[in-house]
Amino acid sequence: MDPIRNPYAPGAGQRPPELAGRDAELDAFDVVLERVARGRPERSIVLTGLRGVGKTVLLNALRSAAVRARWGTGKLEARPDQSLRRPLSAALHTAVRELGRPGDSDAVLGTIKAFALRAAPPKANLRDRWNPGIDVPATTGRADSGDIEIDLVELLTDVGGLAADAGSGVAIFIDEMQDLEPEDISALCAACHEISQSGLPLIVVGAGLPHLPAVLSASKSYSERLFRYTRIDRLDRAAADLALSVPASEEGAGFDDDALAALYELTAGYPYFVQAYGKVAWDVAPRSPISADDVRVGAPEAEAELAVGFFGSRYERATPAEREYLRAMADVAAEGDGDGDVEAVPTAAVAKLLDRTPQSLSPARDALLKKGLIYSGERGKIAFTVPHFGRYLRGSA
Ligand SMILES: Nc1ncnc2c1ncn2[C@@H]1O[C@H](COP(=O)(O)OP(=O)(O)O)[C@@H](O)[C@H]1O
Ligand SMILES: [Mg+2]
Repeated sequence: MDPIRNPYAPGAGQRPPELAGRDAELDAFDVVLERVARGRPERSIVLTGLRGVGKTVLLNALRSAAVRARWGTGKLEARPDQSLRRPLSAALHTAVRELGRPGDSDAVLGTIKAFALRAAPPKANLRDRWNPGIDVPATTGRADSGDIEIDLVELLTDVGGLAADAGSGVAIFIDEMQDLEPEDISALCAACHEISQSGLPLIVVGAGLPHLPAVLSASKSYSERLFRYTRIDRLDRAAADLALSVPASEEGAGFDDDALAALYELTAGYPYFVQAYGKVAWDVAPRSPISADDVRVGAPEAEAELAVGFFGSRYERATPAEREYLRAMADVAAEGDGDGDVEAVPTAAVAKLLDRTPQSLSPARDALLKKGLIYSGERGKIAFTVPHFGRYLRGSA
């Protein structure tokens, strides 16, 4: 069928033509916004899940909901080894602008600038060149102590105060939250704790890999009470069918029941795969409705695209020793239940398969954890962050 009208959107952070199966999360967020705006106590929200389940696009949808509620919003993506100061100040700057209280906001903008300028650059000359892009002078004596925890509490208190005066709220969205530096995580927890006690209308909405709750609670023991954890998972059959059928019907096309069943078998309901297989099936189908045969004919092409765009791009980031470790993980997982590449495997079993000591493998394992290719949700076990990664490794890499 006409590739120009193909509605599907495989790709990290690509807005899907139909955001299927997330009504519960969207509705719950509307309640949070309303409660916080009324000064009711609410926990900040953390979305967790494997790569490709749709955390980023859900985060963006929640941000749109906050904007519709006339909140000030800002977003940042955490990166390993990067301090929170600059990206957070940029996000808060945006949020304050969105609140739309020019004049009243100068003092707060001055605090944001002071917070940003305190970022300790490794080389002093970088500091002079970097500019937070805020045209008011930096204030002194607020959020500029250099102690991230003190500064963050002061900063978020000021921003929350401005939002309260505006009769609105501020929501800060943090993607890939597991990549924040440990001291930034800890300061952020402390600041959220403080803000929630003072009833200010400011919330943090985070998204990250499945071990993010463990990262947060290792940092501050009270984090379990601070955040509401929501696991974002693959779509059930009904939601996956909607993700495929609704966009098609908007283009006057559709799928056979058999085609939908075949697609669910191939994608297991993982949103990234739903978009990838849906897109290829559309292109190879000679006419609507798309049939199970079309799905089967297109499948190798979808697999090839995933091998490059979804799996390969991650696999390439691993060194030879790390790749060996990944393949051993896949082999151990396959011994389990054949298709267990979402299941965690014991690190000891990986070491045994490679005939090495666990200690000698820890550099490779730690590097893979840091690169976000694997995660450890429970002690002594590791799992792939990418669904079907084990199958990919055993099939082709
Ligand atoms: N609820 C959904 N319904 C249909 N497609 C979705 C849904 N959520 C995500 N997608 C699609 O899945 C892919 C991955 O989404 P993304 O948000 O980048 O995942 P993550 O951030 O969890 O890695 C994108 O192509 C997106 O369009
Ligand atoms: Mg993402």
